[in-house]
Amino acid sequence: MPGPGMLRVLGTVAAGTAALFVALLLAPLPAGAVEEERVGPERCGECHKKEYKAWLLSSHSTLITDGYDEDVTDEVEQIVEELELFDVESDGICDVCHYNYYRDVLGEQEITATDCETCHGPGAGWVDVHSSFGAENGKQIRSAADESPEHRRQRVRESLARGWRSPTHSTVALVNQCFVCHLGPDEEIVNDGGHVAGSRIDLVSWLSGEIRHNFQRTAQGENAPLTPERRRVFHVIGRALDVEHGIRGLTEAYSQGRFLKGLQERIGESLGELKKVRAKIDLEEVTEIIRLAESVPLKPGGGSRVKATSAADRIHAQVERFVANHDGSQLAAIDPLISTELRGKPATGNE
Ligand code: HEC
Ligand code: HEC
Ligand code: HEC
Ligand code: HEC
Repeated sequence: MPGPGMLRVLGTVAAGTAALFVALLLAPLPAGAVEEERVGPERCGECHKKEYKAWLLSSHSTLITDGYDEDVTDEVEQIVEELELFDVESDGICDVCHYNYYRDVLGEQEITATDCETCHGPGAGWVDVHSSFGAENGKQIRSAADESPEHRRQRVRESLARGWRSPTHSTVALVNQCFVCHLGPDEEIVNDGGHVAGSRIDLVSWLSGEIRHNFQRTAQGENAPLTPERRRVFHVIGRALDVEHGIRGLTEAYSQGRFLKGLQERIGESLGELKKVRAKIDLEEVTEIIRLAESVPLKPGGGSRVKATSAADRIHAQVERFVANHDGSQLAAIDPLISTELRGKPATGNE
């Protein structure tokens, strides 16, 4: 069933890509934007054609408003009024999650919502590196299949060093991004502005639906579902990252209200899921994550901000350790716990 996001996207696509990538020629850049480090989604789409199409169809390609005409939704207008903001794009409050800027091939400033580089890392430094396979006898090697193992190691290392977040080589850093944004904005924007208090991510289901763009592994064929092994790993780390970011949220909470309540519910729910995992299979990292999470009181500040931050950092380290130690092949016992639902409709790439 398409959610409201899907319906809006279809409307936007019908209106044409020109409307999507509104050029903001004279707009001031928000403080945090590192425009020059981004190459823009069209550049990625030159090679990753179906991934690009899938992204265009997803909610992530739609802007909450272009901010420069009167066409803002009531919801945005209400938040802007409640918080007495000048506009949502250039004051640095909303853009961290809702907007990105880059220059297109003609040098024009463009704006997108959550695009390839928001998740995979700003691309200027690595885009050419991650896709070049070296040369042999003075000729460029065209396919990863013909690349030397040494070149591959070097290419991956260099791309990662230049900020590439890859599903294979830096899994945690990549999916961590989901939780950074979907935890939702700060206490003031939620409690006073009326913004939704983030969204509860069930990572497996959320990666399986409208966000899915697994066309690389099928050489631009089908949009591959997650493998059973990958589902198990993502189930565990998704819940653990949710708890981690929930605790980070507590350190930013100062009062009772919807913001705090959202965090309490989030942590309670994801901790409950981790305990179900623990009941099925004895995993050192999961046991440690539960212990760390339970050491943090679910109140403003998480009791002590210093201790809560340290617990969150240590949970993150356990997540990295879990991914390094488990490829999912030994975790079949948790299959009954993993959602088979699709969050939104996956693209076929042939739309
Ligand atoms: C010139 C063509 C080209 C461009 C442009 C390009 N890519 Fe790629 N990309 C590739 C190729 C080829 C591979 C497969 C490399 C391999 O087999 O190891 C790949 C692989 C990937 C992967 C998969 C890595 C993994 O762990 O499996 C990601 C993610 C990715 N690219 C993201 C991007 C993003 C984001 C952009 C834009 C900033 C981009 N690419 C631009 C050619 C390109
Ligand atoms: C920390 C990240 C973050 C910040 C900062 C943030 N938002 Fe959001 N916002 C989100 C996420 C994530 C959603 C989607 C929640 C969902 O539907 O699951 C969202 C949804 C919305 C929606 C609901 C409509 C829609 O498209 O789904 C509006 C309106 C909105 N935000 C406005 C704003 C405004 C205005 C600001 C600045 C005052 C702001 N947001 C700041 C993360 C953020
Ligand atoms: C830069 C912030 C940001 C990041 C990173 C991000 N999202 Fe989102 N996401 C949003 C916002 C904002 C919306 C709401 C878009 C709208 O409706 O206008 C959204 C919407 C969605 C939706 C559709 C709405 C829904 O409730 O079903 C899904 C699914 C989703 N995101 C999944 C993910 C996943 C999975 C990741 C990580 C791989 C991720 N997101 C990373 C900001 C982000
Ligand atoms: C919301 C975050 C997000 C956005 C936006 C996003 N990706 Fe991804 N991407 C991911 C995640 C997470 C995975 C790993 C999914 C999995 O393993 O099932 C992935 C996987 C990939 C892969 C490997 C697919 C395969 O078959 O293994 C490529 C290539 C890729 N992305 C390129 C892109 C390009 C190009 C764009 C923009 C058009 C883009 N991504 C937008 C998060 C994102």
